[in-house]
Amino acid sequence: MNMDLSLERLLFNLNTLAELGEEITSPKDFNKVVKSSLYMVMGSFSASKGLIFQFDQDGRCFHPIASKGLGDINGVGIKISPEAVKELIKNNKPIDLKSNEHPVPLLGAARGEFEKLGSRIVAGLIVKDELLGLIAVGDKFTGEDYSVYDLQLLSVMAQHISFSLHSHSLLMKLMHKFTENKGLYDNLRRIYYDTIHAFAAAIDAKDAYTRGHSHRVSAYSAVLAREMGWDKDAMEGIRIAGLLHDIGKIAVDKTIINKASPLTTMECRELNSHPVVGYEILSKIKFPWKGIPMMTRNHHEKVDGSGYPDRLKRQEIPMGARIMALTDAFDAMTTDRPYRPRLSFREAIGEIKDNFGKQFDPEAVGPFINVIRKEVLGEVDSPTIVPLLQEQLDSITIHRMLDGFPEAII
Ligand SMILES: [Fe+2]
Repeated sequence: MNMDLSLERLLFNLNTLAELGEEITSPKDFNKVVKSSLYMVMGSFSASKGLIFQFDQDGRCFHPIASKGLGDINGVGIKISPEAVKELIKNNKPIDLKSNEHPVPLLGAARGEFEKLGSRIVAGLIVKDELLGLIAVGDKFTGEDYSVYDLQLLSVMAQHISFSLHSHSLLMKLMHKFTENKGLYDNLRRIYYDTIHAFAAAIDAKDAYTRGHSHRVSAYSAVLAREMGWDKDAMEGIRIAGLLHDIGKIAVDKTIINKASPLTTMECRELNSHPVVGYEILSKIKFPWKGIPMMTRNHHEKVDGSGYPDRLKRQEIPMGARIMALTDAFDAMTTDRPYRPRLSFREAIGEIKDNFGKQFDPEAVGPFINVIRKEVLGEVDSPTIVPLLQEQLDSITIHRMLDGFPEAII
């Protein structure tokens, strides 16, 4: 070969290799990358036909993922014996099917399959002693033979393509694992929520009057937390705390919970033990959200320090517990109890007003009033609190409920 021509060819091939590297690392979709890599290889040798196969671990078969000059290759799959695969990895060089250098066993029985597809040279796509696929190219348009130099060049190109195949197969494995793990996680999450809901139902079942109480406290608290700017994760935490806040009632005698007449001191003590009992139950559980046991323990505290069990004052009470103290009392007031019928919405708001800054935290009351107002005035896409109330509210009631509240919250 004349020197100028061979220099020109060397430069062309180096350029192709550089382009191939660039192509393989480009963020294009995998199929396009494989296809253009095949075209570049074929272009370098002026080959008439070409295929890139990927090894399918499950079927132990090589399937084409890109081809040119072969028409429809759907359904093509070449099985290579494990012994032949081992030989290919060990050899790790392109095989010229017309050369006598490599005896037939190198591709085993598959050799004839490649010949049927018009392949002349077959090279393994190997990374870390793993055969990921194959590249096969047909005869040159020019009728020339493949030189040793051509085979070396093809070997380098095959290495480039192997890396792309390797990254893709790693990505696929990762995605498969991710999908599998996500499925497991979703299942666990569903079981987790089902268990919590079952607990909430068990708590509410003890009290004929408070059916649905835990669900309403949960829903009201989550909406109020959102109004106060809590993030999604913290909102989820208070939603769960709302469902479980009365779990300690499981240890309280049913007759005490349902008693219509005033409780004796002993009965009162037993009933009032439920936040601590609940705390003891829940503090043994590792929740993915912070503060659930403490919110449960402190949901009967009052901001003036007259609540129970710890007689904490405003800032000492976790914010979640201050929210639940309000939503719990609001639901208790707006639903029938064994000892009294429910209060009207206006009366309940009147109670909150009277105990503003004493039992209830102004920091929670303001946003609570505000979110109810927004729900009634249709400023919220999917209202939560108003549909759960047992009376229809209108804008007049809403404007009236604000009477007497400090300026700051209106
Ligand atoms: Fe409670």
